[in-house]
Amino acid sequence: MQINKHFLELKDSYLFSTIAKKAAAHVEAHPDAKVLRLGIGDVTRPLVPVVVDAMTAAVAEMGQAATFRGYGPEQGYPFLREALQKYYEGKGVKLAADEIFMGDGAKSDIGNILDLFDKNNNVIIPDPVYPAYLDANIMAGRNVYFVDGNEENGFLPMPESLVQQGINPDLIYICSPNNPTGSVYTRSQLKVWVDYATYCGAIILFDAAYECFITDPDLPTSIFEIPGARRCAIEIASLSKVAGFTGVRCGYTIVPHELEFDGGNINKMWNRRQTTKFNGVSYIVQRGAEAVFTKEGMAQCMESVGAYLANAKIIAQTMKELNIWHVGGDNAPYIWLKCPNNMTSWDFFDFLLAKAHVVGTPGAGFGAKGEGYFRLSAFNSKENVEEAMHRIKGIL
Ligand code: MLT
Repeated sequence: MQINKHFLELKDSYLFSTIAKKAAAHVEAHPDAKVLRLGIGDVTRPLVPVVVDAMTAAVAEMGQAATFRGYGPEQGYPFLREALQKYYEGKGVKLAADEIFMGDGAKSDIGNILDLFDKNNNVIIPDPVYPAYLDANIMAGRNVYFVDGNEENGFLPMPESLVQQGINPDLIYICSPNNPTGSVYTRSQLKVWVDYATYCGAIILFDAAYECFITDPDLPTSIFEIPGARRCAIEIASLSKVAGFTGVRCGYTIVPHELEFDGGNINKMWNRRQTTKFNGVSYIVQRGAEAVFTKEGMAQCMESVGAYLANAKIIAQTMKELNIWHVGGDNAPYIWLKCPNNMTSWDFFDFLLAKAHVVGTPGAGFGAKGEGYFRLSAFNSKENVEEAMHRIKGIL
């Protein structure tokens, strides 16, 4: 018996597990301190009333023989796929219902989609970025190349360095709004990526988990708003952040029919993969998700999104007052800042935790280019964010 040796190449613990462990140890050592968590991007506001009502009604249906449902379609119920079609129509994007696949969240699909691709593919990953991309590809033993984000490019790397190095990409991850930096690609920047992927015969894996935070109407919220994207992109999104579903679990992956590569149709392959390995999202959750995309549901959800964005403004304003370089927060729930006094990311993490009982996320956890930077999340109550900023001002 041989194990998948690539697991041995991973760091011992996933970034957010390490942070949770460190925070728990701090709580144990300081039982009287009120620890404020601006680390993992986990929502704090409850499910909105229309979602609760829809899920409650679905539970009642499941308790009656006449309306009980067993296995549902692996791809999602038509009522939810149609609701998503309408949501995308609002962005000016036309999708066929069978291009939308419901899943249990973006993180799972980001890893699962790799089943479809050869192990020898070259994978392009922005640095810094959400660590699940890199870990999932290390597990599969793929060649990974990085495109560097930095202050000069506003943490929005473009393909030039890949062209200069003569790298031939097969899979390209893009996250916009970016986690962790909160930076958002413009339409023209995304068009460059789409043209580049098309030219190289590569597929873009576009992570749109934070699309609902985009307030600037000129910024694209879906890769499919960009001409040509249907021939080179897959979009992966989630209800975690827009509707507070981090614990409920529901997301979706959009795979256009046009994606034909190497003798395979990617939409058909993903369908085949899902029908083999996945039995669908629960009916109760899908009814809750359907309610999110009603007019009333979206209005209620956007109230929560607005509250998180207001927190982001408070954090950004504090960084401005402290003269700390930062980006993000306008169209994203994350503020990405330069660690003060040339501290490393983990030193600043320890400093904040020890001196202010505030948990953040060290930039180095998102990639080598994140070293020296730090992420603060706006997912908390206004009171806690204000208190955290007050404490940070007191120690810097
Ligand atoms: C984060 O904090 O980066 C994310 O919320 C984690 C996740 O979505 O898995």
